[in-house]
Amino acid sequence: MKLIAANWKSNPDTAKTAERLALAEDYEGVIIIPPFQYLERVRSVLKHASLGAQNVFWENGGPFTGEVSPSQLKNLSVSFVIAGHSERRAYLGETDDMINKKIKAALSEGLQVILCVGEPIQIRKDGIRSAKDFITNQIRYDLRGVKRSDAKKVIITYEPIWAISTSQNAEPDIPEEAAEICAYIKNLVNVRGVIYGGSVNAKNAKEFLGRDDIDGALVGGESLKPKEFQKIVSAATPLV
Ligand code: PGA
Repeated sequence: MKLIAANWKSNPDTAKTAERLALAEDYEGVIIIPPFQYLERVRSVLKHASLGAQNVFWENGGPFTGEVSPSQLKNLSVSFVIAGHSERRAYLGETDDMINKKIKAALSEGLQVILCVGEPIQIRKDGIRSAKDFITNQIRYDLRGVKRSDAKKVIITYEPIWAISTSQNAEPDIPEEAAEICAYIKNLVNVRGVIYGGSVNAKNAKEFLGRDDIDGALVGGESLKPKEFQKIVSAATPLV
């Protein structure tokens, strides 16, 4: 079964809308990843989907204003946390060292991790080999010190920055090349799965999700549109 993660980012504006969205996206194999403030409300309505958080800190408690700890998330029945999203790497200056600490803290609390990696356009312009080298460095650094048994609780999302819908001058990726890079990542590390994120929508979902080397999708923009999102889910598993 493929995994479809709905990364709502900093949306929607009200808990009521979040609840409606969660109900419309509550399918087996789906991970709903709302902003922190809606976690409890979303959890209370989900019957089939799993719950994820968009970020996590590396300490459990202490003087860390604004941070959310792994144990707090665990106690809210969160199963997955995102680490390494390119938006946080780029706009908040999150480093591989910080990402590595988050991943280790989350795993030691029993949370599963969705680690995002992906190259900027300048790297990709040098060819697919450069992109693979870039991603290799990210993965090596981000998973440094993670035990083999814990790596099985990590899902890697390949998200080329230039293909994410909100990137400046976003460009569509070529599914065949996305699959080639996902296959490359699978050979590099033994993780639970490798999924793809980069403007996955109802129209292109089959082309990405139909490939054996792509274990699912992390969906941003289109996860805020229930009808489109349902079509993406049904491209992975026929909806009953
Ligand atoms: P997108 O976002 O589907 O809007 O491209 C994916 C992501 O950034 O997680």
